[in-house]
Amino acid sequence: MNSTPTAACSPFDSRAIRVLGVVFALCSAAASAVVAAPLALYLTWQNDPATTQVVHWHTDASAADSLIEYRAVGDTRWLAATGWSRPWPDTPRRVHMVELRGLSPGTDHEFRLVGLGETIERFRTLPATLDAPLRFAVGGDLMGRRAAFEQMSRVVAGRDPAFAVVGGDWAYADGLPEKVHRWFDLWDVWNQTMRAPDGRLIPLVAAIGNHEVRGGRGASTRDAPYYYRQFAFPAEPGYGVLDFGDYLSLVILDTDHATRIVGAQTTWLAQQLSARAGRPHVFPVYHVPAYPSVRPFEGRASAAVREHWVPLFERHGVRLAFEHHDHAYKRTHPLRAGESSADGIVYVGDGAWGVGLREPDLARPYLARAAARHHVVLVTLDGPRRLLEVVTKEGDVIDTFSVPAD
Ligand SMILES: [Fe+2]
Repeated sequence: MNSTPTAACSPFDSRAIRVLGVVFALCSAAASAVVAAPLALYLTWQNDPATTQVVHWHTDASAADSLIEYRAVGDTRWLAATGWSRPWPDTPRRVHMVELRGLSPGTDHEFRLVGLGETIERFRTLPATLDAPLRFAVGGDLMGRRAAFEQMSRVVAGRDPAFAVVGGDWAYADGLPEKVHRWFDLWDVWNQTMRAPDGRLIPLVAAIGNHEVRGGRGASTRDAPYYYRQFAFPAEPGYGVLDFGDYLSLVILDTDHATRIVGAQTTWLAQQLSARAGRPHVFPVYHVPAYPSVRPFEGRASAAVREHWVPLFERHGVRLAFEHHDHAYKRTHPLRAGESSADGIVYVGDGAWGVGLREPDLARPYLARAAARHHVVLVTLDGPRRLLEVVTKEGDVIDTFSVPAD
């Protein structure tokens, strides 16, 4: 730190009060110029969560260095890792990213952001093999209403998930400069709430929704400038797959927001599902539902998902898919070719973490359960079994069910 303001902060002289006033003003300015904590802090991954961890944080625009010290809990020696930072468009912030690699699976780690105070944060790497039950959370449509988002997030964090999957529609900023402040509010809430009961940070896996994109439907990732700037994954071309050890793959897709459903994404999806034959848990995650609970069944994106992706899901043994966007809770019957089938896919959604609710159309024959409730889905992987529990922002469990192994 510059020594000049520090010296000015000891103004013990006998001159006039107005001089003291000037000095105190200088002290105040100096204190406000010191960045003592990140403006936002969150974790994600772009490689195996058993051995890596991506740390993102925000600072003001002047703090360009991205340096972390980290260690496994119990180790005495800090290790250093550096990454990158880049300006966040239309904001006075920079987004920082460091990827920690070569970590031990299933291990508590601690880290600190160099130059941003002495706060020590903690995270836990995921296991490399599924030797014990593993719980994670899935939800979407987050901060339409701050109070609801906050209440729901506290409930989710209290259930101690290993991570949270977010299926799009984060801050409802719509890629617009006049709404980008909504992202600041979102991270304020996230940082106040999304900690496990033991204090460790709960990592997230991001997917995109229409409210990340200018006009709701863009031509490329450039039309979702705030979203892609904030997350290492998924990066270009806007979708991706994350493999957890030897047991779980999350296939993160874009339902026509910054990337088209038809074409390269569908070709890529077929390749990725084929390459993961035999993995016990492969779950697609995307925003617009194939089987909507509220909006029209023949909506453009819904129809395209059913035409182009659902046959691939069915061919490659997917049994559980996560959908969002309709602002209600829904679970379908197991479906194959649109009909109930014991070996079908259960579609769970429909995105109501913290938004205004909509009434589901209970007459739709593919719906097994539906309700206008804020909720997040808690998934427990127990060997080949998938146990699902749906919890509301009031803490009520409104659905429990299991999905058979592939
Ligand atoms: Fe949406």
